[in-house]
Amino acid sequence: MNRETARQEAHRLLESAQRLSADQAIDFLNATVAHNYRLLSDDPVIKAEGPWLHTARGRTIFDGVSAYSAANLGHGHPLIKETLKGFLDAGYPTVLGRFMPDPWLALFARKLTHMTGFDMFLPANGGVEAPEAAIKLARRFAHREKGVSAPEIIYADHCFHGRTLTVTQMFDEEDQTARAGFGPFAPGFVRVPFDDVRAIERALTPNTAAVFLEPIQGEGGINIPRPGYLSAVRALCREHNVLAIWDEIQTGFGRTGRLFAWEHEGEKARPDVLCVGKSASGGFAPVSGILASRRLMDHFEPGSHGSTFGGSPMAGVLGLAALTAIELERLPEQAAEKGAYALARLREVARKAPRIKEVRGMGLMLGIELNRNGPDGHEFTRRLLELGAIVKDTHHWVLRFTPPLVATRDELDFVLGLIEQVFTEKSRLNAGGAFARA
Ligand SMILES: Cc1ncc(COP(=O)(O)O)c(C=O)c1O
Repeated sequence: MNRETARQEAHRLLESAQRLSADQAIDFLNATVAHNYRLLSDDPVIKAEGPWLHTARGRTIFDGVSAYSAANLGHGHPLIKETLKGFLDAGYPTVLGRFMPDPWLALFARKLTHMTGFDMFLPANGGVEAPEAAIKLARRFAHREKGVSAPEIIYADHCFHGRTLTVTQMFDEEDQTARAGFGPFAPGFVRVPFDDVRAIERALTPNTAAVFLEPIQGEGGINIPRPGYLSAVRALCREHNVLAIWDEIQTGFGRTGRLFAWEHEGEKARPDVLCVGKSASGGFAPVSGILASRRLMDHFEPGSHGSTFGGSPMAGVLGLAALTAIELERLPEQAAEKGAYALARLREVARKAPRIKEVRGMGLMLGIELNRNGPDGHEFTRRLLELGAIVKDTHHWVLRFTPPLVATRDELDFVLGLIEQVFTEKSRLNAGGAFARA
């Protein structure tokens, strides 16, 4: 196709998206896309900038979940956009196959390893591929370095690591939706309560390959362990020659006020393997992977693991630009400062909101847990969306508030005001609380 035809066709495609009515878009989605997600709204998003989403029906909505923390830098970060435009205009290949060397993956991996203090990066795409790779690495380590034939991985209840068939073997006892009817399952996983070092100690056997944890459980309800948990688990792992694997796909890239959440406890909490994803590309494309020492990474010889798109030039350019933006924006510092402010304000709201059981958080990873004496979190999410913000329920009874870390104080005030309104207005949602008692 010549350039002029391509330009005209591209123009037509862009116009067709602009012309598609909201109703048509919803009809097409319902008819042609698998219903493995429930739509929260009938109003398609047609533009996004920073923390704001603009819809086909003319609404402006604050994105208070940052696409599950994939948009820590906000939507369409200008540095990533500009770098991507230059990359495309310069004619770099978007995909290549890892058998061909590429400068963008070289620069991305070098920057990521420098920023995190690990030797090597194994690139992948969607988040779940990182835990999947980490499980493979842990098993190879156990087979080869410990002579174990049936390795076990210890994981925590209420965890979430993604939804492939193997990774769903690390699951939340209370929510098995991603498992029901999908058996038979891979063996070799042992569940323990979260934030319980002794339980891990009891679960360790000569077959244990790894302990697999989120430093703060996101999907499980913003569960923050007691200080010292990670370093105690780390010490136990070292003592028993077991890998410590932290899944920071949601907590990573500044979200909790440090580049990675384990850093709150210092070097003694550094894992053997770190899973990253989501904001690794600034939310522009699926980019994930694992970080580890050279010694561990050498368990992957050519052919043992891989993916066509994992570590593509496109992933490299986006990753490099995102990491640079994270540094220039001082994203962890922004999260720490704004998170302290937001947490204090949410605690004030909680004092006058009987439906709130607890507010908790670290950086801008915040959760509002509801008392179970009224409608659940989903209904609060719907009401907040009506008012102009996405603050999404997780685990039924917790509202997750994880805004883009670049949201300004005024923008945060806007959404905190809406949260206050929803929890203090006279409504069915607050029945069972103050208004039922009044
Ligand atoms: C801690 C954690 N690990 C893994 C995943 C899976 O990521 P993805 O949905 O991109 O596969 C998620 C997604 O929410 C997550 O929060």
